[in-house]
Amino acid sequence: MNEETKERVAVEDPRVVLEVEGIGKEFNGVWVLQDIALQLAEGEIHTLVGENGAGKSTFIKLLSGVHKPSQGKIRVDGRDLTFSSVRESEIAGIRTVHQEINLVPFFTVCQNIFIGAEESTRVAGIGFVKDREMKKKAERAIGLLGVKLPVTTPAHELDASMERIVQIAKVLVHSPKVLILDEPTTPLSEEERKTLLQIIKGLKKTGMAIIFITHNIEEVMEVSDRVTVFRDGHKIGTVERKDASPAGIVAMMLGQELQRLQAGGLLFLRGR
Ligand SMILES: Nc1ncnc2c1ncn2[C@@H]1O[C@H](COP(=O)(O)OP(=O)(O)O)[C@@H](O)[C@H]1O
Ligand SMILES: [Mg+2]
Repeated sequence: MNEETKERVAVEDPRVVLEVEGIGKEFNGVWVLQDIALQLAEGEIHTLVGENGAGKSTFIKLLSGVHKPSQGKIRVDGRDLTFSSVRESEIAGIRTVHQEINLVPFFTVCQNIFIGAEESTRVAGIGFVKDREMKKKAERAIGLLGVKLPVTTPAHELDASMERIVQIAKVLVHSPKVLILDEPTTPLSEEERKTLLQIIKGLKKTGMAIIFITHNIEEVMEVSDRVTVFRDGHKIGTVERKDASPAGIVAMMLGQELQRLQAGGLLFLRGR
């Protein structure tokens, strides 16, 4: 293979980290998600969009081991995996910032970041938690997110945007292979949103594969490599961001609802 061919292959065939085939979920006989296929490559930001209730969070809960899929396959680095727990998904290198905030109010920022993942060492057979090292790592992760926040602050003193920042720091300390962010920008101020988008782009450059969920079309257009649209528990399609327009994405999200809205608008005008 000469140099030219090698480069072309690398561009056309990015390394797929995560592959999902025909995945779905039913709760008590109701299918809330069906037959979803998706690929995620190294160094890719793959955005999921869809109206409320479209199934986005359920989808990522299948990837993060919160729920067990009712159908389909998950493949990480080419290996078929079945996640029976969140831990198993984490071991595969997948870390998720869920839409719901789940910090322990009376734990500090540092304790929340390392909850269930305390680092310890053994000296003469006795285990010691490495407090100082954890504090340093927590400070680094918080610093990376562009905010000033003492890691000794108890979580109940944080406002909504700081809670989100801590939740993100909590996954970043584990340097995941696949990072999933479920509507991370929702409670953030304009300034914090900008910082977070820059950070996500920076993580992409390190080769991290990122699934990003947002309601904000501007954010979709700013950060995505590819965009997958969900509607009513189905995947409507995946488009390259460079080929996509905001109006096109909204049309995919709304489907017939958009036609109804447009038809309604025309009727309204005629009526006048
Ligand atoms: N644990 C559950 N039990 C039953 N239904 C659920 C459960 N979780 C989600 N759903 C339903 O699945 C559908 C998709 O929800 P969700 O994945 O949260 O959508 P999105 O994140 O796109 O807003 C909704 O109709 C929701 O009510
Ligand atoms: Mg959701």
